[in-house]
Amino acid sequence: MITMEESTQSEKALVLGGGSTLAQYFKEIYPNNVVLVPKNICNITNPQEIKSLLAHSSAQYVINTAAITDMVQCETNPKECMHINAEAVSTLSALCLKYDKKLIHISSNYAVNPTNVYGESKRMSEKGVDPQFLIIRTSFFSEKTYAVKMLLSKKPVQAYKNLYFNPVSVVELVRSIWKYRTHKGLMNIFAQECVSYFEFASMICKALRLDPEEYCIPTLYEKGAEVLQRSQNACIDTDIPIALNDDIATFIQNTFHGLK
Ligand SMILES: NC(=O)c1ccc[n+]([C@@H]2O[C@H](COP(=O)([O-])OP(=O)(O)OC[C@H]3O[C@@H](n4cnc5c(N)ncnc54)[C@H](OP(=O)(O)O)[C@@H]3O)[C@@H](O)[C@H]2O)c1
Repeated sequence: MITMEESTQSEKALVLGGGSTLAQYFKEIYPNNVVLVPKNICNITNPQEIKSLLAHSSAQYVINTAAITDMVQCETNPKECMHINAEAVSTLSALCLKYDKKLIHISSNYAVNPTNVYGESKRMSEKGVDPQFLIIRTSFFSEKTYAVKMLLSKKPVQAYKNLYFNPVSVVELVRSIWKYRTHKGLMNIFAQECVSYFEFASMICKALRLDPEEYCIPTLYEKGAEVLQRSQNACIDTDIPIALNDDIATFIQNTFHGLK
């Protein structure tokens, strides 16, 4: 059950990229604190739209979830990807300073030792954020994550045995971001355990009481076989303790009870 203990009615945040999965969960969990701002209202590559939004808002925080998150799209449109994911963030940071808003920018585990354009764009995005603001580095799962989505609809998944990550649930992530909103600099929000995609899928199976032998098919990532170069070990040490098994169990339970 999600509680609102970290929430205070008076603190408000504008969430850019208001159509994102992350933004939708912010609205669900902190409806009184966030205003979602979709791309058609504020395109982060348009400084005029950012200015007019910030000038007319009394919100203290700006949470930037806007990005191209499709890694293959970034590979095929590198200029567009760098423009939205990195260059626009630097302008956004400067405007947040000017209009006295605290920027909370969402980065990625792939920003560390990037192996593809998306990772490089997230690495560059971090460089454009003023040190007095907050950068959240993370990796998260939701009901839209491939393995979770498939297993929720009782379909078997193929999952890499040799790619590692340490994701947190989107619910845990949203709550943590809000809890640490006054922090500055870089914060790593990840699970404590580094697991392969296959192990992750098996954990989801167990939470759903599905037999991993039947529903999780191990496969191997082959370097160079895909357009996208992936980082084999994308795990990052977390700054806050989050137990993956418990997080998965709570997320799955909440999903079944219609709670986010
Ligand atoms: N998903 C993950 O596992 C993961 C992991 C680590 C970090 N992150 C980061 O977390 C953030 C949110 O991820 P997500 O998966 O929730 O995102 P998402 O669902 O893919 O949504 C991204 C949103 O950004 C919007 N957008 C794209 N270009 C924009 C622009 N120029 N101006 C304003 N909005 C724009 C998109 O709008 P349209 O759809 O209309 O284009 C979309 O609503 C991103 O910064 C992502 O890099 C995600």
